[in-house]
Amino acid sequence: MTVRLLATFALSALSLAAAAQDLTWRKDIAPLIKEQCGACHGASAPSYEDWNLDRKNFEAKKIGPRMDNYTDFMRHVVWPATGSMARRLDDGKNADGKAGNMYAFLGGDDATRAKNLATLKAWLGGDAAWNLNRWEVRGNVPAITKDQLDKVKAKY
Ligand code: HEC
Repeated sequence: MTVRLLATFALSALSLAAAAQDLTWRKDIAPLIKEQCGACHGASAPSYEDWNLDRKNFEAKKIGPRMDNYTDFMRHVVWPATGSMARRLDDGKNADGKAGNMYAFLGGDDATRAKNLATLKAWLGGDAAWNLNRWEVRGNVPAITKDQLDKVKAKY
């Protein structure tokens, strides 16, 4: 391989990394979540705790927990609903080929869903930050580790 080709690869890898680092909740993610998820997880939706108190009732009305702001959103990444964002949004590559049940809401067609998932993942910190584990062990799925949590970047 020529040196020039190698340099081109290195450069494009660098610019990809830079692009991911530039993603912020305020600029890139909040508008995306508002657009794709806001109808059911917006400002009028209950907090995760209130929602949990009456979960069946809210589910029947197609209302989910609120996640239109950074704090509420991150609680489905880190704690208390650890990994629920990744479990619900995964395209199936990390969960036995079965996509999460919120994946469909990422867009109207495959290309849009893939693009929006890639943006969310890059913002969180890439594949290393895409953690499906819960806080506690569940069956043969281990609990999340501090090492995994350290990978989450999610710039505000
Ligand atoms: C049509 C309404 C609707 C839309 C749109 C929607 N959701 Fe949901 N979501 C729900 C409902 C209702 C639940 C609770 C039922 C369930 O767990 O499947 C839920 C559950 C969830 C959960 C699990 C919460 C937990 O910890 O138990 C996550 C995470 C989630 N949604 C993320 C999203 C994201 C991200 C989007 C946008 C890409 C989205 N949802 C779009 C209705 C919706």
